[in-house]
Amino acid sequence: MLSDEAVPSTEIAVERISMVFGKKDHEVEALRDVSFEIYKNEFVSLLGPSGCGKSTLLRLMADLLEPTSGRITIGQEHPREMRLRRKFGIVFQNPTLFEWRTVKDNIELPLEVFGIKKSEYSKISDQLLEMVGLTPFKHHYPWQLSGGMQQRVAIARALSLDPPILFMDEPFSALDEFTKEKLQLDLLEIKKKTNKTIVFVTHSIPEAVFLSDRVIVLSSHPGRVHSILNMDREEGSPSLVRQSGLFHEMTAAVRKCFYKESDSLDGQMV
Ligand SMILES: Nc1ncnc2c1ncn2[C@@H]1O[C@H](COP(=O)(O)OP(=O)(O)OP(=O)(O)O)[C@@H](O)[C@H]1O
Ligand SMILES: [Mg+2]
Repeated sequence: MLSDEAVPSTEIAVERISMVFGKKDHEVEALRDVSFEIYKNEFVSLLGPSGCGKSTLLRLMADLLEPTSGRITIGQEHPREMRLRRKFGIVFQNPTLFEWRTVKDNIELPLEVFGIKKSEYSKISDQLLEMVGLTPFKHHYPWQLSGGMQQRVAIARALSLDPPILFMDEPFSALDEFTKEKLQLDLLEIKKKTNKTIVFVTHSIPEAVFLSDRVIVLSSHPGRVHSILNMDREEGSPSLVRQSGLFHEMTAAVRKCFYKESDSLDGQMV
């Protein structure tokens, strides 16, 4: 008999989702018949070229949009129910911090909104500040921080109500390569510590391969699921993974999905 651990349980089910924006004559079909499942505690990336509907898909999961047809459930419930119960946090490409609030106050904002006891605030924010490496900056204002540090605050804020799920929409794409690599490493560390289910939107193949347990490749116009790939993982230091042969094999395998000719990268994109 299989142990519980061996049977992945579904956390998010996306069933035959289609999304059309606009009215007759000006319709944009963003997504067509998209289905997949995300399991508890998984790190899944939604990968695809610009305009293929990644953000739309994430917004549908986060109840920021209603689909034209199809159904999304999170833990068997409608995403709205899960949003109201604060079962997910969201990190966008821009940190969207409040300039007049300190780092600590930005992180504590959801606690205030959700009516958590004031005596709990500092315990929670101190832990998160430590996790994202910003303890010495807790009394700084966002404009006193670098872009990478601001994004760390946004991550901490998204985790403040300890949601089991984290949605991230290209959170590192505006950062320089060095900062991005450091934040990717730190995100894996956060994943290890918190065991959240993470749904991560990106258009970067190496980023998706580096971070994910599975990669959902989307093709565009309209967005459809092209393929779903398991990422093999090597034991050892994550910082060395990028130099490993397996990492290069995996990126090559994902890259191939984007071309019609499976053996030629000069082929047309899907
Ligand atoms: N609110 C909207 N109204 C009309 N069309 C929209 C709206 N939001 C998205 N679209 C269209 O839906 C399609 C998918 O957009 P979406 O932003 O989801 O793509 P994306 O994969 O996130 O792109 P990027 O990588 O550039 O962020 C695009 O053609 C876009 O123009
Ligand atoms: Mg987008």
